[in-house]
Amino acid sequence: MKPVHFNIRSFIYILLAISFLSACSNKEITGKSGPKIIDSLMAKMTIEEKIGQMTLFTSGWDVTGPVLRDTYREDIINGKCGNIFNAHTVAYNTELQRIAVEESRLGIPLLFGYDVIHGYKTIFPVPIGEACSWDTVLIEKSARLAAKEAAAAGLNWTFNPMVDISRDPRWGRVSEGSGEDTYLSIIARLKVRGTQNGDLSDPFTLAACVKHFAAYGAPQAGRDYATVDMSMRVFREIYLPPYIAAIDAGAATVMTSFNELFGVPATASYFLLTEVLRNELNFKGVIVTDYTSINELVPHGVAKDEKEAAELALKAGVDMDMQGAVYYNYLKELVDSGKVDLELINQSVRRVLQLKYDLGLFKDPYLYLDAMREKEVVLSEEMMAHSLEAAQKSIVLLENKVGKTGKLLPLDISKYKKITVLGPLADNKLDILGSWMAAGDQSNSVSLSEGLKRKFPDKNIQSMEGVGFMSEDRSAFPGSLALAKSSDLIILALGEDYTMSGEAASRTELDLPGIQSEFANLILDSGKPVIVIIFAGRPLTISDLSQKADALIYAWQPGTRTGDALADILSGDFNPSAKLAITFPYNVGQIPIYYSMKNTGRPYLEEEKYTSKYLDSPNEPLYPFGYGLGYSDFEYSPIVINKSLISEKDTLIAKVIIKNTGKYAGEEVVQLYIRDMVGSLTRPLKELKGFSKIYLKPGESKEVVFNITVSDLKFLGQDMKYIYEPGDFMLFIGRSSMDTSEAEFRLKNKK
Ligand code: NOJ
Repeated sequence: MKPVHFNIRSFIYILLAISFLSACSNKEITGKSGPKIIDSLMAKMTIEEKIGQMTLFTSGWDVTGPVLRDTYREDIINGKCGNIFNAHTVAYNTELQRIAVEESRLGIPLLFGYDVIHGYKTIFPVPIGEACSWDTVLIEKSARLAAKEAAAAGLNWTFNPMVDISRDPRWGRVSEGSGEDTYLSIIARLKVRGTQNGDLSDPFTLAACVKHFAAYGAPQAGRDYATVDMSMRVFREIYLPPYIAAIDAGAATVMTSFNELFGVPATASYFLLTEVLRNELNFKGVIVTDYTSINELVPHGVAKDEKEAAELALKAGVDMDMQGAVYYNYLKELVDSGKVDLELINQSVRRVLQLKYDLGLFKDPYLYLDAMREKEVVLSEEMMAHSLEAAQKSIVLLENKVGKTGKLLPLDISKYKKITVLGPLADNKLDILGSWMAAGDQSNSVSLSEGLKRKFPDKNIQSMEGVGFMSEDRSAFPGSLALAKSSDLIILALGEDYTMSGEAASRTELDLPGIQSEFANLILDSGKPVIVIIFAGRPLTISDLSQKADALIYAWQPGTRTGDALADILSGDFNPSAKLAITFPYNVGQIPIYYSMKNTGRPYLEEEKYTSKYLDSPNEPLYPFGYGLGYSDFEYSPIVINKSLISEKDTLIAKVIIKNTGKYAGEEVVQLYIRDMVGSLTRPLKELKGFSKIYLKPGESKEVVFNITVSDLKFLGQDMKYIYEPGDFMLFIGRSSMDTSEAEFRLKNKK
């Protein structure tokens, strides 16, 4: 064998090559700039300090304000905790940042995270409500303003957006997502854009965190945290796209989910975190766990103890441990014993430092900590005005029946002298804020009765709770009925309290909680005109009310300006235009029910027993996806298409003319659906492929044009690659997924 000779020149070359290679790998993690500060910190940090950057602890909040446990304070000083969540307000966060910057050895600034999901202090509608606006400008603006307000209060990171698709309203977290449909993944993109605004170092923005990766919205039987299992096709085609949309939009961080998927808890899933997220989606940012979800690998049964859990999570790809202190307790030991490679830790730390760098914190750790700005921005007029607009646009009118004197809504207010508002949400200022009210405070919110009094100052407006959310107490029933009977108009304000949806709030019955239905029936039988307004974080089963109420409104949880928004809708000052982003079932037995179901081999036929149906329930929902009423009457022309035979290079142009034939100016959400009639795999009966929200004055017409290309016809083929297939398609345009007209077209065989 030839001896290898080393001389000084080859030694220099080797050194150059090594430094070049390491520069390349740094670049991959740190982006173009490869900031020197990160290299220099990495060189100085002890392993404990590195693990500190991978640790996120919560601040508490008691009646007098925020409190940080003493041990955490010590941890910040010792460099063992580099990130805090649930700490907010400029005064408090400035003090924490000061400790980190001035009292810790290396002075690395803290990240401050918080769940700013639908507002920080000025609360906007819960996300499922806002999705019903189908208003892309509004949704992006909500994220923009929520970030602006939160950043003004000293935060630099939000655990938003939650983009989990869900088709199961038993799961309380449907309130936090954008509904059942994959197409509405566009909302994920809007929220990331709104939150980060393309520039993390702008102190009016926050770093976004896409969650919960992945498929958290499909727990078995709707029970939160329960097992998720589905085919790889459904995962990739239905559940994955919103996360992809958010990552494509530049989301800085991703949160792992609590659930298992394909038999592996997400927080330990190398497949999800490394193969899909890092390798396929090319995600370069920070992966943080959900709250103690590394610890939960033990009860999940994939780790025998927390030490093993730490090893699994790190190797799967988790950079930061939220609250579990598992990295904090065991990572060093795992490195010392050779079980984990220090390089994995280095990569994670670099990602965290890069985020801090991108947020501008190395230039100025106090960038987000400006007391003047906080004063100007929090609860400012801009926020309050947007809260009103977002609420107006999210509230869905479900019924507006034609009575003897026409439709009850909008109110002909001259007819009513005495108006009575009854129910647990009549005067309520808290539950209308929803489950993630963040720093929202009921003292700033406008209840329904207050909103009505402001709108109709000359009317005699009475309000009374009458019935509690959950209590069995009927003692106020007679008094409520007497009040109702003495009134000209009754508004029933019913629903869930804010704790009944959101995290750990699964339900097996979706009726109005407690004895509210009984109360509603009593009042509905009073013979007076009754408007029922439901406040909830999920679809409830309300078929009884839908039949009996003269008008039925689904308000969701509209936020700070609830009362004003509803008063505007009732008075006609705002014409409702929201459409459901999630299907409303008749009953719990129909769940999961969604508009894009498949045909089956035995589609429903009333006269045939052996077809796909129930003995005791219709197949159709109570209210379909895309449904919602307004005060205008929109007439749709037949669909006109430019050709009925297209090639793969063509664009099919489908046009309809919408005319407002009613008395009120208003907005309409025109929806486009497509069905692939015959494929190598079964395809849904309808898939949303586009929509257009238009505004029309009375008598005005507008042409709505949809361009359809083969990319709208794609699906995941047998080999899990996106394909489109020649053949027949149906195209539907209409006002909801069940109220459409149709046209046929054919995609030619490939040459
Ligand atoms: C648990 C929730 O699942 C998650 O959505 C939230 O961001 C974290 N807690 C932090 O509050």
